Amino acid sequence: MTMDATHRHYLMCRPTYFAVEYAINPWMDPTAPVDAGLAIRQWEALRGIYLDLGHTVDEIEPLPGLPDMVFAANGATVIDGNVLAVEFRDPQRADEAPAYRDWFERAGFETHEAKYVNEGEGDMLLAGDFLLAGTGFRTVTAAHDRAQEIFGRPVITLQLVDPRFYHLDTALCVLDERTVAYLPEAFSPGSQAVLRRLFPDAVLAAPADAEVLGLNAVSDGRHVVLPSQATGLAAALRERGYETIGIDLSELRKAGGGPKCCTLVVRK
Ligand code: ARG
Repeated sequence: MTMDATHRHYLMCRPTYFAVEYAINPWMDPTAPVDAGLAIRQWEALRGIYLDLGHTVDEIEPLPGLPDMVFAANGATVIDGNVLAVEFRDPQRADEAPAYRDWFERAGFETHEAKYVNEGEGDMLLAGDFLLAGTGFRTVTAAHDRAQEIFGRPVITLQLVDPRFYHLDTALCVLDERTVAYLPEAFSPGSQAVLRRLFPDAVLAAPADAEVLGLNAVSDGRHVVLPSQATGLAAALRERGYETIGIDLSELRKAGGGPKCCTLVVRK
């Protein structure tokens, strides 16, 4: 079976000021070395993959003092040209929120204030008609209600239970309108049951793949860009007919981020 690719519009932020200077998730160790130059080259390779696939990539100007700003997925949620702004849990990332909101305002989008802690597409993933929304570590459920009001899409709250998989996009990847891949153990029993009911054909990832942030993948419906270390997941995806493209983001992973974290989907 050949699957159809959808043209995507992505927003990314060059990791000019990337560093691991604080620890707000279990992946981050401020005492461990990070190769900043390599981080930039790895990010450029990711951007190059999207351009080669024919997608549109916009860039937001990185700001000094915001080392996690490269993780553009946390900058907003954008559906039907509506932008729900973000509010970070941690003060270290707070100033990223107005920077992303300004970018969307200048680009002519209607933006809505966050009001509650909400880390954008890190915790809100559109899967067909449903907006899957993670909670437990960052985004709060009041933000899920707000997202449902703003986007008019049914929001499905999913409880994350493993601190290593603190954002929904570290535990689940939307492959196309009908299917997702996820690590069952990253969700509460009730949320696992919800996922089984909504996505009976989902690809179930193994812990080894999630532990290299394999689920932090970006799909256009046909091509899935994922960390090159997630070999088991890549094989499972190819078996389902997806084309997989591996990317090594070793330096960004030291901050707990992979390809999806670096990529915000702009849906006009
Ligand atoms: N260091 C960042 C944080 O902990 C990583 C964010 C990763 N982004 C994502 N969408 N999962 O907030």
